[in-house]
Amino acid sequence: MAGNMTLSEKLDENEEQKLREFENKIVTKSLLYYLAEGEHPIYSNSSGPGNFGHGATNGLLMGEDPRLPKMPEKPTFTDFLRYRFTIGGQQHLLQSARLAKMNGLPEKLIFACLMHDIAICGFIRSDHGYWGAQMIAPYVDEEVSWAIKMHQCVRFFSDPSNNYEYPESYTKMFGVDYQPEPYIVAEYESAKKHKWYMSALEICKNDQYAFDPNILVNWEEFEDVVGRNFKQPPEGLGNDNSPSAHIWRTLRRPCNAL
Ligand SMILES: [Fe+2]
Ligand SMILES: [Fe+2]
Repeated sequence: MAGNMTLSEKLDENEEQKLREFENKIVTKSLLYYLAEGEHPIYSNSSGPGNFGHGATNGLLMGEDPRLPKMPEKPTFTDFLRYRFTIGGQQHLLQSARLAKMNGLPEKLIFACLMHDIAICGFIRSDHGYWGAQMIAPYVDEEVSWAIKMHQCVRFFSDPSNNYEYPESYTKMFGVDYQPEPYIVAEYESAKKHKWYMSALEICKNDQYAFDPNILVNWEEFEDVVGRNFKQPPEGLGNDNSPSAHIWRTLRRPCNAL
């Protein structure tokens, strides 16, 4: 039968098989995962995006995903580091924080550097400053989450009077002609006038030099800093119904059907 199938039918069949491997449960994927592969699934198959699984005989996966490392009932920030976040991304955060410490910044800003790309290593890349700030806002000082949100725009603009130059690595990564989008420019204009602008700038100043594969920093070095600056909810991250609890739950169970 397979010999008579069209290419799109074969792809659909492979997808179907991939999606129903676990205890007869269908694992649904969000639209975002398809878009990330460059697919625009207008014609979704029975378990793809846009299909709500109504009538599915085996049931949809809800709750914990057996393919992923099991998390404790009341997960802490450290549990997310251990069971969900990327290792390489964590080194970038740790190296940035160590640089901030060497540069003599106050603890609050060392902590901001430690968290600044939390979205990239722990959730999503696009608009990472905004997502990262939102993830941690209920648990940290307002200045920290503001600075993380605004490093998204501040990093694109040189500020020679405060010793910040446009990163050379950005010219390599985005090209010499890259121009930040209008929403970034507008956000920067308002950030520049804000009382915490220098905090966002310090994240950028301690960010661009912090990519050394020969340095290995451990979280133990910043355990106290995290303990003093991240208010861990006793119910566990995601169980606490804070304004960002849903993000932590989604990270814990990314294929929860609804
Ligand atoms: Fe960043
Ligand atoms: Fe960074």
